[in-house]
Amino acid sequence: MTGTDLAAVLAGARVLPVLTVPDAATAGPLAEALAAGGARCAEVTFRTPDAEQVLKTMAAHAGLAVGAGTVLTPEQAERAVAAGARFVVSPGFDEDVVARCRELGVPVVPGIASATELMRALRSGLDTVKLFPAQPLGGIPMLCALAAPFPQARFVPGGGIDAARLPAYLAVPAVLAVGGSWMATPAHLERGEYGEIRRLTAEAVHGNAT
Ligand code: 3PG
Repeated sequence: MTGTDLAAVLAGARVLPVLTVPDAATAGPLAEALAAGGARCAEVTFRTPDAEQVLKTMAAHAGLAVGAGTVLTPEQAERAVAAGARFVVSPGFDEDVVARCRELGVPVVPGIASATELMRALRSGLDTVKLFPAQPLGGIPMLCALAAPFPQARFVPGGGIDAARLPAYLAVPAVLAVGGSWMATPAHLERGEYGEIRRLTAEAVHGNAT
């Protein structure tokens, strides 16, 4: 998948579930629940020891474009791609991670939290970035103020966004998709609440919980 392909996937999906999965045994039913709720993509974070196995399982799900998140080092990018990640997301902008992703032929969405970081990302040839952590940084006013001088930039805001805040973020023209963990949390997974994951995903994707 190219960066252009990923931008198209994100623009079509509009919602990017950000997953922290403690137990790889839950990955299959989780993928089913997300897909049944209408998700078209998902980000598996490198925040648990099982992340690579989760990626392997979820990447096999035909209906989901599954990427890796919280990728902090070039080595993690390698492991993510080996596990089947179709894209890489990072909370910050790291030239070495971006360069390794380029070598690996996988699109990368780096995190940015300032105009300076956004300029670095744009100069490195990337125009899709993750605004992180979006809500603590100032939310929609911050996003709009940051987007104004950079009409070529496209944003995937994440961090502190929930179902109530989602529509306002999606209404910002520069936003491709919104990332968030509220649709599928470790607590949902621990309790086996796949119906609730499906419901929350459908609510986010379709604007209602049906
Ligand atoms: C991310 O990586 O996008 C965030 O950790 C998701 O933030 P949230 O857990 O506040 O939704």
